[in-house]
Amino acid sequence: MKKVTLFKGDGIGPEICAQVKRVIEASQAAIEFEEFNVGEAEYYAHGALIPQAAFDSIERNKVILKAPITTPVGKGFRSCNVQLRERYDLYANIRPAKNLPNVKSPFDHVDMVIFRENTEDLYVGKEEKIDENTVYATKIITRRCSERIIRAAFDYALEHKRKKVSCIHKANILKMSDGLFLSVFHEISKEYPSIEADAYIVDNACMQMVMHPEKFDVMVMPNLYGDILSDLASGLIGGLGFLPSANIGKDVAMFEAVHGSAPDIAGQNKANPTALLLSACMMLEYLGEEEKAQMIRNAINQVLEEGKIRTQDCGGHASTSEFTEAIIEKLYI
Ligand code: NAI
Ligand code: MG
Repeated sequence: MKKVTLFKGDGIGPEICAQVKRVIEASQAAIEFEEFNVGEAEYYAHGALIPQAAFDSIERNKVILKAPITTPVGKGFRSCNVQLRERYDLYANIRPAKNLPNVKSPFDHVDMVIFRENTEDLYVGKEEKIDENTVYATKIITRRCSERIIRAAFDYALEHKRKKVSCIHKANILKMSDGLFLSVFHEISKEYPSIEADAYIVDNACMQMVMHPEKFDVMVMPNLYGDILSDLASGLIGGLGFLPSANIGKDVAMFEAVHGSAPDIAGQNKANPTALLLSACMMLEYLGEEEKAQMIRNAINQVLEEGKIRTQDCGGHASTSEFTEAIIEKLYI
């Protein structure tokens, strides 16, 4: 049995976590969860966003499945994700965006996987006030961090039988910083002769993603472009309830839905558990349980394809638990 640290989160977190656990148990994947209350409620009850016992569990298990956490705006504690990303150097933020059967979106043929560098670029937070009317922000690009994210993208492409990796940059203007990222991309691409490699300037990439989403396969980019383009990619497949993600470091990996804690629908058993469930599938693949992950993906696709049982965010009337039960029924069909 592999042990995984589970953060139940806030808002809809505990509800969708409970359902995802049911599906994983029904799939008979060799996974055991160590559960923790983490987040806003935990912070106000016991004074720490992430209790020490949860950190100890991460350090033993190295794998986290995380439900969304409420983060107060402009005051209170620092984001849980920023804390975890810094502490465990989770440098690769991976977001696959793929059309799902029968889920409405204005775009077809979307099947792209974004690799966002998660630790440097403008997000190092180094801003300096020069005078009342002038602020400088520092953009950091290093060979070390560029290499590891670009290599992660190519390794993923090989493993997942993808054909192409595209580098997204602005090296025409930022000749030294993005220029370094792009030249590292070209160097590393030579080590992967079976994978096609090309590059797009970021503004052109935005237009192409909307006009011709089928052009993109795996994409790799510095932090800022990754933040923006991954939300754009989410929009292409129509729905926050369907978007999984992984944050991977050398030793620790964290899997979570892209959406937040949805306080407006919390406690009503109507959230869509698919994004967290697909994140759990990415986790199973990471842990070598590819067959179980595929079995769960197939069950989700069948339920969506039939279209009879769907949650309210995609036009249905089913509750979180009814939708989950439908998925469990399809697992062994
Ligand atoms: P949100 O993603 O929680 O909600 C936006 C809208 O989408 C809401 O109308 C919500 O009901 C709906 N929605 C989200 N997930 C859904 C699901 N699974 N099924 C059905 N409908 C769903 O974003 P919002 O409202 O901006 O943030 C709420 C809280 O979540 C904030 O405190 C924010 O800081 C936090 N947050 C946490 C994240 C994390 O822990 N990774 C990520 C994003 C936001
Ligand atoms: Mg963002």
